[in-house]
Amino acid sequence: MFPKTLSCFCCLALSATFTPAQEPTQNSEVLTGTWHCQFESQFGLQTYHFHIAINDAGDATLKGEVDARDEERKVDFVDVNVDKDSISFAEVLQFGEREFRIEYNGELKGKSLAITRSFGQRGGQDSLATRDLPKPPPKEDPAPVVDVKIDRVVRNAFKNSFLVGMAGDLPSRYSEKELELAAEHFAAITPENCMKPERVHPSENRWDFERTDALVQWAQKNEMTIHGHTLVWHAQTPDWFFDGRDPEKIKRRMKEHIDTLAGRYKGKLQSWDVVNEAIDDGGDSETAKTENLRNSNWLQTLGPGFLTLAFKFAREADPDAVLYYNDYNIESGPKHASSMVLLKRLIDDGAPIDAVGIQGHWRSGRVPFEDIEKAITDYASLGLKVSITELDVTIRGESGGQFGRRRFRSSAPPSVEDLNTQAEDYAKLFAIFKKHEDAIERITFWGLNDRRTWRWGQHPLLFDSNNNPKPAYASIVALTGKDNSEEVPESPKKVEIEDGGQGPYSAIVTESPTLAGMTIYRPDDLAAFGNEQKLPVLLWGNGACANTTEEHKNFLNEIASHGYIVLGIGPLDQLKQRDESSRQRTNASQLIAALDWIIAQNTKDDSLYFGKIDTTKVAAMGMSCGGLQAIEISGDPRITTTVVCNSGVLPGLSPMPAMPNLTKEDLKNFHAPVLYIMGGPSDIAYKNAMDDFSRVEHVPLVMTNLDVGHGGTYRRPHGGEYSPVAIAWLDWQLKEKQDAAKMFVGENSQLANDDAWTIETKNFDE
Ligand code: XIL
Repeated sequence: MFPKTLSCFCCLALSATFTPAQEPTQNSEVLTGTWHCQFESQFGLQTYHFHIAINDAGDATLKGEVDARDEERKVDFVDVNVDKDSISFAEVLQFGEREFRIEYNGELKGKSLAITRSFGQRGGQDSLATRDLPKPPPKEDPAPVVDVKIDRVVRNAFKNSFLVGMAGDLPSRYSEKELELAAEHFAAITPENCMKPERVHPSENRWDFERTDALVQWAQKNEMTIHGHTLVWHAQTPDWFFDGRDPEKIKRRMKEHIDTLAGRYKGKLQSWDVVNEAIDDGGDSETAKTENLRNSNWLQTLGPGFLTLAFKFAREADPDAVLYYNDYNIESGPKHASSMVLLKRLIDDGAPIDAVGIQGHWRSGRVPFEDIEKAITDYASLGLKVSITELDVTIRGESGGQFGRRRFRSSAPPSVEDLNTQAEDYAKLFAIFKKHEDAIERITFWGLNDRRTWRWGQHPLLFDSNNNPKPAYASIVALTGKDNSEEVPESPKKVEIEDGGQGPYSAIVTESPTLAGMTIYRPDDLAAFGNEQKLPVLLWGNGACANTTEEHKNFLNEIASHGYIVLGIGPLDQLKQRDESSRQRTNASQLIAALDWIIAQNTKDDSLYFGKIDTTKVAAMGMSCGGLQAIEISGDPRITTTVVCNSGVLPGLSPMPAMPNLTKEDLKNFHAPVLYIMGGPSDIAYKNAMDDFSRVEHVPLVMTNLDVGHGGTYRRPHGGEYSPVAIAWLDWQLKEKQDAAKMFVGENSQLANDDAWTIETKNFDE
């Protein structure tokens, strides 16, 4: 008896999983009633409440409610089937003209119902439904708070370049704090949803202007420009537009829609996204030659002429509004090519189109910078203005603009490194936008903060969900002067180091209110510079890519005293007293921004630097991590030489997130002579530098080593032994002093004769 009972015990323990199929009725009963579960979705966390009813005949019905971030809705699930201990059903969602079907399968697992749902071809999403209500969704976004100091608001920082805006259906449902934030930081607003056809014009004879009127009123009160979004689109457009599928009727409905909506706000909106997302996704080299239009109801019923029509109707309804074609992913690949074909056709057709909106839904670490820059110039070459209309750079999960086609990955809090990488991406983007400010009208973020975003959980915007500015905010305003609408005099703050250095010009360290976050080393008395001799420029990145030149101050000061202007990363106040912010991540793009700045100063007759800078002589220079920043910017045609100190490109990915992620391919950036100043075999960068040296064949290279290790001699008096070597190189390369070359070239070069140093040169013409 005993052994039998024992084995039975085992069976019992497993029975919940293996045996209930024998008792179907009982399980139907077990299934009946209310279950709750949660899914992550593109709209944020969704809580489902399922109510299952099964009648005596075994027929099941299933109703439910969904609580999502900004809505609650009721659902009648369809195709409900109960089979023993499992249940399957479907949810049908209507997005504009399209229907989406989500399939659900539930299986009893003990006291829970394990539910898998799937959507189209994509893999399943699992959730355990229980009888208990799940915890409410987290109120606080778990992003770490980084102490980011901002001294200017972004709308002012770029006010001479372009508008900076945001999207949102303000003011209803926004807190006072959020409304203040929006009005303080942004100069433009795009209604995120309330002007879309399904919201404002839900049926042919029904308009709902409550929210749109409120938005327009609120924006006007806060002196923000308003940008209408969107008139003609395949999504969020009700089916009634296409009822009957009679082209004449549909044309009339389109005209009435545009007349009424654009007409109502005539003169109040600065622009309209007239047609949204008309080009199909994907594409290949064949479709790239065509417009590759999306097979939407508009195309099906009106043909490709629907775009020109829409633009004409919009122009008639509001003659002064800037009219946009708006789309996502049009900056890259075949879709970009198709966009060019389409835009040319619209222009040829006489469609009154003024501008292109690149939506700009990108993902941190994968932003297609080069494509973006090229797309801006391509569109400008057609005579069109360009805006980035829906900018967000997600930290986690996929990005892309596809409506209803994202796979949401559960949110994990970003690390400080993630936030810094995002800041770097934003800085690079804004450096591109600023460079093309003549073509660009507006940069609009798609949302206000990391709570008010369709990418909730992916931390895509400038403010976290508690309205604190993120590193991204600081990184973009750092690209601009304090207030670029007025000339601000050079700050009187001057620091003297080592009695001004040993060179012929007593040096000082200073800053400029128009060059935020950078330290300037230069001769104190600039009177000596102008016609006869000018100051070459040195762009400097620090060890550890730190946000201060403190470690290198003796060295940089010494160089400046020999007649150079050094623009080094980091604010002046970190020079004497380093605090936490000296560890704030820096970007190579700051060096480029500094170069742009000094070039501009040289042309402004009220600038201290007017006519005193040799802007054709520029060294990219830096130590360790900063050496990589120097390599990173070496492709800029304005760079005359690169000096890499205690650094070399790593063979693999950077171990430190703060480091620029370069590969040996980036050595191709060099287009002018390069000097390496290294610390000998004990320098941790030695191997990498020697490997760089062995690879580069296309520009003259000099490799020098002094056996001092990775730390170099920067902290020694006047920068130690590295200073005369660096100065000789700069004198040779930037001041064309042939004498200075003797330090490096010829069998009898100074360094070859110096026992402490080793030197190798290559690719010099004999
Ligand atoms: C999005 C909104 O942000 C969401 O709140 C809404 O649920 C769906 O639409 N491209 C567009 C925008 O042109 O209208 C979309 O906005 C994002 C993609």
